[in-house]
Amino acid sequence: MRWIACQDYDDLSRRAADVLLAAITDDPRCVLGLPTGRTPVGTYDRVVQECSRAYHCFREVVTFNLDEYAGIARDHPGSYFTYMRKHLFDHVDIDPRNAHLPNGSAPDLDAECARYENEISRAGALHLTFLGLGRNGHIGFNEPGTPFHSRTRVVELAPSTRVANADLFPDGHVPTRAITMGIATILESRSIVLLAGGSGKQEAIARLRSGAVDEGFPASALWKHPDVTVLVQG
Ligand code: GLP
Repeated sequence: MRWIACQDYDDLSRRAADVLLAAITDDPRCVLGLPTGRTPVGTYDRVVQECSRAYHCFREVVTFNLDEYAGIARDHPGSYFTYMRKHLFDHVDIDPRNAHLPNGSAPDLDAECARYENEISRAGALHLTFLGLGRNGHIGFNEPGTPFHSRTRVVELAPSTRVANADLFPDGHVPTRAITMGIATILESRSIVLLAGGSGKQEAIARLRSGAVDEGFPASALWKHPDVTVLVQG
């Protein structure tokens, strides 16, 4: 695991965007795993700035988001589908057919999870996946206690996660469930970049840095992967 201390949020965002853009330059057909949350917003802003210069950046890129809330429509203002359109997809030349998110309003959520997992395999696996870090150590929506062998599935959100993400749901109806890639799905990505930024993350970062691997702390599964970079906001 490579640890990179970033000076501040802008530095973290710039470095993450550079890694993402380099992956596309290297392989214009690369398959990216993408996160949501507050932390990656600056990364996407920088990617969008750069891609408006380098036209056709995303023309053949394939993306898979880590997770999506269950039980809300795709166009709900709090959905990750809406988030991704707002912060990335509406501003770059990605083919909408290549921009995948789990459908949290599918009639059969278990079938949707199996379909999503299958789509990732059909794309030839994730090449590079960016992750955020939950305050409780979650990655995607894999909450503490998630088995490391887990795959894409429906999960119950921890009460603390619902509180942390409540501002996306000003009507107070924060979803209780989500679809998330599993930890095993994430670990199959060839490379992983963890964006360890934002307020209230110090404890989670210290616990990850300790190197103790424990299903009670999902991010610690990353120690089992040979190519992980952690960008830590200073
Ligand atoms: C959400 C997302 C995670 C994200 C985490 C951290 O729960 N499902 O994928 O990494 O929150 O979010 P933030 O960057 O807003 O702290």
